[in-house]
Amino acid sequence: MLDISSHDVLIVGGGGAGLRAAIAVAETNPNLNIAVLSKVYPMRSHTVSAEGGAAGVIGPDDTLDEHAYDTISGGDWLPDQDAVEFFVKEAPEELLRMEHWGCPWNREPNGRVAVRPFGGMKKERTWFAADKTGFHMLHTLFQTSLKYNAVTRYDEFYATKLLADDGQVQGVVAIELASGKIQAISAKAVILTTGGCGRVFPFTTNAAIKTGDGMSLAYRAGAPLKDMEFVQYHPTGLPFTGILITEAARAEGGYMLNKDGYRYLQDYNLGKPQPQPVLRSMELGPRDRLSQAFVKEFEKGRTLKGPYGDVVHLDLRHLGEKKITTKLPFVRELCLKYENLDPVKELIPVRPVVHYMMGGVHTDTNGATPLKGLYAAGEVACVSINGANRLGSNSLTECLVFGAQCGRAAADFASTQRAPGRHLLAQAVDEETRLQDQFLRKAGGRERISEIREEMQRTMEQSAGIYRSRDSLEQAAGKLSELQERFRDIGLDDRGHAFNTELVAALELGSMVDVAESIIQCALHRTESRGAHQRTDFPARDDQKFLAHSVVTRTAEGTPAVNYLPVKITRWPPAERVYGK
Ligand code: FUM
Repeated sequence: MLDISSHDVLIVGGGGAGLRAAIAVAETNPNLNIAVLSKVYPMRSHTVSAEGGAAGVIGPDDTLDEHAYDTISGGDWLPDQDAVEFFVKEAPEELLRMEHWGCPWNREPNGRVAVRPFGGMKKERTWFAADKTGFHMLHTLFQTSLKYNAVTRYDEFYATKLLADDGQVQGVVAIELASGKIQAISAKAVILTTGGCGRVFPFTTNAAIKTGDGMSLAYRAGAPLKDMEFVQYHPTGLPFTGILITEAARAEGGYMLNKDGYRYLQDYNLGKPQPQPVLRSMELGPRDRLSQAFVKEFEKGRTLKGPYGDVVHLDLRHLGEKKITTKLPFVRELCLKYENLDPVKELIPVRPVVHYMMGGVHTDTNGATPLKGLYAAGEVACVSINGANRLGSNSLTECLVFGAQCGRAAADFASTQRAPGRHLLAQAVDEETRLQDQFLRKAGGRERISEIREEMQRTMEQSAGIYRSRDSLEQAAGKLSELQERFRDIGLDDRGHAFNTELVAALELGSMVDVAESIIQCALHRTESRGAHQRTDFPARDDQKFLAHSVVTRTAEGTPAVNYLPVKITRWPPAERVYGK
């Protein structure tokens, strides 16, 4: 017999946005019963690997309007400006709240919170804790969440389906990974905070857990995904592993060099070399432009050949050992462990790597999706403040600002709702039968998970990388519908209950193929170039047609359908993006 447990608000995802949401629900209405469900122990969530920092205005020479303008221009005018205005206003308050909860921000000798410059930001406003900012923020949020007895945790549970009644989301079906037990968890409101989907690509900074689960859960339940074509490449990943070398390395003064030892970014309208890092110029340009410059250098034959493809060099040697060990200790540790080199004395080989999804589940500024009772925040969501290209260090703050806002909105909503009835059990039983029939009891499935996953990742890299074209996107669309078909014929070797990682891999693959299809379809329909979406066949930005968000929904046949929503402009009409001046 399938179990059902009930809560007022259920949060799916235990990273930065999820824990911040849980705290906000508890503070908004202490009578609510809250659950946090996560496929890993919360301290292993991907937030832990964020490095460089979190943006929020603090300096006396900085203003909220400047943070808003940098974010909007960095996003190539696709961000919704009402959301950005809300974001920049809340950001400093959230970061100070983190300070009060114990986050060990770096400090200046005079005791003030230290801030560093970051890509595309023209003022120094990135708060940091050395280069382990995500680790310290996640610790702070986790320990703060432990204060609230109202929070029940479902650690190492995998949600397979959203339960809905008459269009209103009322819980999930989930597998307890330790036992394999399938159970229903009902709630008056559900918040998705499952993060992004970098694993759709073969070469990514993202942890193995970032498989687009929440995006797919929402999409299958009928919620639209927004701006899915905008996939961010971070310019400095380590070859082979894809491990992130933080932008903070360039913020502290690191140089990007091509095979001739030349600071090539001066050739790409990003400013000229200066003795000190200059805000918004060259190495501190926005990520889309830096990743595109790498491709151009490759085309000019000015990159270096490495065992895992072409690379350029990141040079930190001139920063000196003291600065590297105090401000960038993790960079040094990663280089020593994974590249067997010491950045104090040696050049670091790097190349662009998939890092972040600007797109996600369509929400309003309260994190509400068009499905009643369903909310989303963090990378799984698209509010949108990031538009066509996110600025580094805006995403940790986004987790705080919109995690909190979403928690408050979900708490208010849940406070007005009656508990879902036990009739949800019938849907949960159907889902249990699907899981048994499709995976655990199925005889003779011929397809292997690893083969479909590799074909999907290769297709995405070839077709939806830094530059795209109609031909390659059309081929990818055909390939992905073939992979959807083949996925139905997957066979598992492991039929066990305890920690069936093969079953989890199959479920994750199902989510990834959904997300991959939505990325390809949105990229195919957007016949312009904007931010991280560069079409070789449509190289210009087209504000007449595409100052609009792509919105992709799942049709009754299970295929993606793309429509558009206007961008909200409040005070900053579209203009040219100018860097290095
Ligand atoms: O480079 C970094 O530290 C990444 C930061 C971010 O994506 O916000």
